Amino acid sequence: MEKEKPRGPLYYADYLQLDRLLSSQQMQSALHGKPAHDEMLFIIVHQAYELWFKQILWELDAVLATFRGASVPEEELGQAVLRCGRIVEIQRVLIQQVDVLETMTPLDFLDFRDQLIPASGFQSVQFRLIENKLGMRRGDRLQINDAPYTSRFTQLDAARVVASEEEPSLFDLIQSWLERTPFLHFGDFDFWREYRRAVDAMLASDRASIRNNPTLTEGEKATQLAGVEATAHRFADLFEENAGEPATGPGRHFSRRALQAALLINLYRDEPILHLPFRLLALLADIERNFTTWRQRHAQMAMRMIGTRIGTGGTSGHEYLDRAAERHRVFADLSALASFYIPRSALPKLPPDVRSRMGFTFRSP
Ligand code: HEM
Repeated sequence: MEKEKPRGPLYYADYLQLDRLLSSQQMQSALHGKPAHDEMLFIIVHQAYELWFKQILWELDAVLATFRGASVPEEELGQAVLRCGRIVEIQRVLIQQVDVLETMTPLDFLDFRDQLIPASGFQSVQFRLIENKLGMRRGDRLQINDAPYTSRFTQLDAARVVASEEEPSLFDLIQSWLERTPFLHFGDFDFWREYRRAVDAMLASDRASIRNNPTLTEGEKATQLAGVEATAHRFADLFEENAGEPATGPGRHFSRRALQAALLINLYRDEPILHLPFRLLALLADIERNFTTWRQRHAQMAMRMIGTRIGTGGTSGHEYLDRAAERHRVFADLSALASFYIPRSALPKLPPDVRSRMGFTFRSP
């Protein structure tokens, strides 16, 4: 049997492969014989982003694995919550990193920008993998010059990105997890009839307080009453089986059943069994919001750096990025759930046997 070679003590630089990491900043401006000081910052900021993207994918893959099973064990749900919380914190760093890059002025950027064409963040494979694994669908993407977004990749990269479109995404898995929740039906207790009654009472009181408000003109009353009717319509979509699927804005939308489950989890989050699911849904909404905030910050940075010029990757630049921030959404339904909340005091009281089935019980031996 071959003897294991004696190894010296682990050395910091070897462990982190710093040789490779720190010799991976090759400035195009230097290659062209005119080194531009700020290109180093530009490269390092992009590389830092890619490292964080790698960590996000690492966490996301673990969360996806948890939800792929037929049921989700409670302790794994706890892990998924921790991992989504980590993704949210990383995203905060990613948003903040824009400030670091913005210490570069537009004129400094122009010193090397043209040497980057046609490379662009548009070709970030890891960014596309994150989008797709979260649940972005090809058909929901903005079209650029009638070409698929994968047309800017090498064949190998395009294949990786396309493969990620074909796996069940976090959106798909969370939707079926929500649809499976056992708390949509409570035996004889018809929760949705009770909830609807509370909603109708709330809407009737909203209408009455607008009609009886002496400070409003007739025109203002009509506008506000129209707002109440729009809310009533959204509720009807949520409650009525034969209405269209409830839609609450751009991006993907959950099925009615999944949306009802998400609402229930939010409304009764104080019940112990619903607490972790509530935290998970809140974190998914945070991930969505942070993604949009990053897109908006990045679009503003592009405007500041290149104005209305086209991007190095050939899109319309700022205009494309702005529209993508508006359109490219996955979990927007979770933030929009607040439109369906009613005050805690008006919530139907759950019957005691339903509550005890939801609670954790401790019996001494
Ligand atoms: C001077 C700074 C930057 C400018 C002016 C800029 C500009 C742009 C523009 C114009 C686009 C649209 C595609 C194109 O036509 O090229 C784009 C896309 C993109 N950029 Fe940047 N960018 C900058 C920094 C960064 C950084 C630091 C990252 C971090 C990885 C990044 C990641 C991306 C990504 C992921 C896309 C694709 C967005 C999408 O399709 O929704 N960019 N960028």
